[in-house]
Amino acid sequence: MNVTVRGRTRHYRTVGFDEAENQVLLIEQRLLPHEFKLVGTRDFRETAGAIRDMVVRGAGAIGATAAYGLAQGARAFRGKDLAKFQAHVETVFTVLADARPTAVDPVNAMLDVRRAMATGTTVAEQQTLALAVARHFADEDVAHCKAIGQHGANLIRDGMRVLTHCNAGWLAFVDIGSATAPMYAAQAAGRKFHVFCDETRPRSQGATLTAWELAQQGVPHQIIADNAAGFLMWRKEIDLVIVGSDRTLGRTGEVANKIGTYTKAVLANRHGIPFYVAIPLSTIDWNMKSGRDIPIEERAEGEVLGAWGEVQSPKSKVQGPRSKVQSPKLGRRAYVRVANPTSGARNPGFDVTPPELITGIITPEGIFKPGELWKHRRKLGGPK
Ligand code: MRU
Repeated sequence: MNVTVRGRTRHYRTVGFDEAENQVLLIEQRLLPHEFKLVGTRDFRETAGAIRDMVVRGAGAIGATAAYGLAQGARAFRGKDLAKFQAHVETVFTVLADARPTAVDPVNAMLDVRRAMATGTTVAEQQTLALAVARHFADEDVAHCKAIGQHGANLIRDGMRVLTHCNAGWLAFVDIGSATAPMYAAQAAGRKFHVFCDETRPRSQGATLTAWELAQQGVPHQIIADNAAGFLMWRKEIDLVIVGSDRTLGRTGEVANKIGTYTKAVLANRHGIPFYVAIPLSTIDWNMKSGRDIPIEERAEGEVLGAWGEVQSPKSKVQGPRSKVQSPKLGRRAYVRVANPTSGARNPGFDVTPPELITGIITPEGIFKPGELWKHRRKLGGPK
């Protein structure tokens, strides 16, 4: 995506690799929208840490990061002993796979890398193959998102109001995004539409990341509180919902996505509003038989009990209601406790939406009913 920082516009991918330094290159997403900063991870454990701590997040982006992380770990191995190398690669795989459990893309991406590595007969050959396949995964992620845009663009007609949840945009992938791909393609086709970004508490990826992306792209949008969507649907102010997914079950059509997605699907169904899920093929899990088996990440309660943001002057023009906060560290990222100090919280990161609430799954191969994924599995990269 083209990003304009301090007046300079440049194209960036969210995830890249520096071969000379053996570093995975990432956009530090926790600082957005207030600061745009690139960081490099020096070894696979740091790469896993960046996934776990959400320096990089979003299913496709952590898939590419894990693929590069596996290549990074493999390339750091010194020696020619293939058995020792394979044991080392197994450790790297496990550390990266354990960083975040719900999205299937990291595992799918690393399995691709490992399958290709197995065709090499020496450590050096396998190291070279690892990086080549990680790069291929990243390029394919971009191609898939582009194709999702082509298939999904016609869902967005002139004058429509589109709701999206969390960030299934450029920042959640290597480029373009999944839920945002139809929006960017519709924009390129000259259509005028408006996007509502769910704030997406507790980490506010909609308010911070999707809104920033849409602003960068010049797409008219507004952030809404998570609780506002039902009211806007009831007032007929939302025509279409497009979200992403962290794991879509190829056998059942169930969709795991950011917490709150299920609520929006129920509301859309109640109001007769089409509800679409946009995914690259790496998000499909062909093995799991039930959405109840999807590992749902439970995150720290501090995310619910407070919020991160940039400290601003109470007189700042962009500030909302007047605040009494007087901080010497204006412009700094800070955490503020919102909730009652003696209360705890529960923080599941994802939920599962059943297929009957989903109008269609937008894939790089076309739009399918969720229950039809299995029938089209060969086309969609699934098993025989
Ligand atoms: O916790 P996050 O920010 O990694 O969650 C991301 C989402 O749930 C996105 O909506 C999802 O990854 C789908 S698009 C890749």
